[in-house]
Amino acid sequence: MNLTRSVFAVLLLLLAACVSSQPRSGAQHVTLIYSGNMNGELEPCGCSEGGDFGGVKRRATQLASLRQDNTALVVISTGGLVAHESTQDRLRSEYLLKGLATMNYDAVAVQWQDVAFGTQFISAVPLPWVASNWQAGEFAKARIIERAGVLLEFFSWLDPEQDPAAKMQATAAKVSADTHGLLESLKAAKSAGRVTLLSTAYPLEQIKNILPLTDVDVLLIQSAHEVYGEPQQLGGTLVLQPGSRGMRLGRVDLELAGNHIKTFKHEVIPLPKSVPDAAYLSAWYDEYNSRVKEEYLKRSAIRKALRSGDSPYAGADVCAQCHQSAHQIWLGSEHAKAFGDLEAVGKSFDPDCIKCHTVGFERDGGFIDLAMSGNLVNVQCENCHGAGQAHVAAGGTQPLGNKGWAPQQMCAQCHVDSHSPDFNFERYWPKITHGK
Ligand code: HEC
Ligand code: HEC
Ligand code: HEC
Ligand code: HEC
Repeated sequence: MNLTRSVFAVLLLLLAACVSSQPRSGAQHVTLIYSGNMNGELEPCGCSEGGDFGGVKRRATQLASLRQDNTALVVISTGGLVAHESTQDRLRSEYLLKGLATMNYDAVAVQWQDVAFGTQFISAVPLPWVASNWQAGEFAKARIIERAGVLLEFFSWLDPEQDPAAKMQATAAKVSADTHGLLESLKAAKSAGRVTLLSTAYPLEQIKNILPLTDVDVLLIQSAHEVYGEPQQLGGTLVLQPGSRGMRLGRVDLELAGNHIKTFKHEVIPLPKSVPDAAYLSAWYDEYNSRVKEEYLKRSAIRKALRSGDSPYAGADVCAQCHQSAHQIWLGSEHAKAFGDLEAVGKSFDPDCIKCHTVGFERDGGFIDLAMSGNLVNVQCENCHGAGQAHVAAGGTQPLGNKGWAPQQMCAQCHVDSHSPDFNFERYWPKITHGK
């Protein structure tokens, strides 16, 4: 009886020692994993190794392994997840959001681009959106996060002047320009012992004029490049700038004294091909690809019906009749394999890929599908020289569509930074040189 009691007492003492060891050193730790402006990049295109970073599936794997090693992880995003420029952006953004919604984010700021398809488009997805100056109540004004005994509060501020609708007349402002309420909330959060995080798309120079940063511990500003910015310290505020396109994750380990940052350690975690895809997302990914294919088939049916008369494109086989040596060189080049390479990765139905890997996609008389326009697969003569049917019909006496273009201008249609970061005309042209 006595023995049991003393064992129990020793255990209690040990337990008390464990519990008190943290407060005794006075420091608490929390780790922020931050990113932003994925800009609709659901997956890297794989066009080149230099750009093959990121994607939702690798992100899921990386986050899971970080969480395994660290229970004090807070995962946040500065928003800017939706893209709305190319044909596929809506569908791609929808799946990007659904994918992220499986990863237990703690807070996601809203940027203007996120509401390009309406607020419903994003509020329908279970992500912890935050827009502190949003008027209509679709989004939370702040989120309190508790992790490893630390309390944090996340705010986000939209620039009313950047509201695309505000440029039109007679629409009620969606966001408030009055920072008074935000300042009050930040102050209240600080006095309640929380670490405050503020995300905003304002440039740093401007935000300093709009808001005193006294009660902001971490300021997250909008991405400017793919590369993460170096953290800066402004008074007691730590300023972080994520890199865009979801290629990497930012990690900052904070050592806190009370609810103030005492020290921090910053690291950027890349998401290269060696990070495996999260297996649990394979059904999500298959569903996405079949939706892409479905949309593509719908649109090519419409284009088939609309196509009337002859195509202005001839196809490389026809050019070969009179330009044998140029044709031989082309056949041996990577350009002649461009569609096969898409098929190999299951992307020959994705308009976002087809446009640079076929001839004249989404142009009158250009590539529609293999059955209807099998002569226009791959990157061919007419991608660079322009449509050549008239030239062929005239036995070579008529000029081609891109007559007068500088060679570099031809390449720049496809060899853009995001798909060919290592492109350099002086090194690439010799690999496909033909003509005089
Ligand atoms: C803006 C034009 C463009 C778009 C859009 C594009 N690509 Fe590419 N792709 C290129 C270029 C240019 C290269 C060659 C890059 C280099 O070697 O510098 C390439 C190369 C590739 C390769 C060959 C890589 C290798 O190692 O040989 C694959 C595979 C590929 N792209 C897949 C895709 C997929 C999948 C998509 C859609 C998600 C896509 N591409 C969209 C321009 C594009
Ligand atoms: C019936 C033969 C014939 C066919 C088919 C033909 N060409 Fe030509 N092409 C010529 C002749 C002849 C010239 C030289 C004209 C000149 O020098 O005035 C020429 C010149 C050119 C030139 C250089 C002059 C310029 O206008 O830029 C290019 C580039 C060219 N052809 C590309 C093509 C392409 C691409 C195709 C296929 C779409 C093609 N040709 C099909 C006969 C042909
Ligand atoms: C990737 C782009 C590209 C592709 C693909 C391409 N060419 Fe060219 N071609 C060029 C460039 C650039 C030049 C050089 C033009 C210059 O020097 O101004 C050229 C030159 C030529 C010339 C010589 C023009 C002259 O005035 O000497 C001919 C003919 C020609 N190409 C035909 C073809 C044919 C036929 C094919 C397909 C079998 C083809 N090219 C594929 C970019 C391309
Ligand atoms: C219509 C889009 C398009 C245009 C225009 C284009 N390319 Fe390409 N290029 C591609 C694609 C796609 C690939 C990758 C093909 C593959 O491997 O599947 C590629 C690959 C290449 C490669 C092989 C890269 C390697 O790693 O060996 C070279 C070289 C190249 N392009 C040079 C040029 C040059 C030079 C021009 C301009 C004169 C040009 N390309 C214009 C789309 C284009």
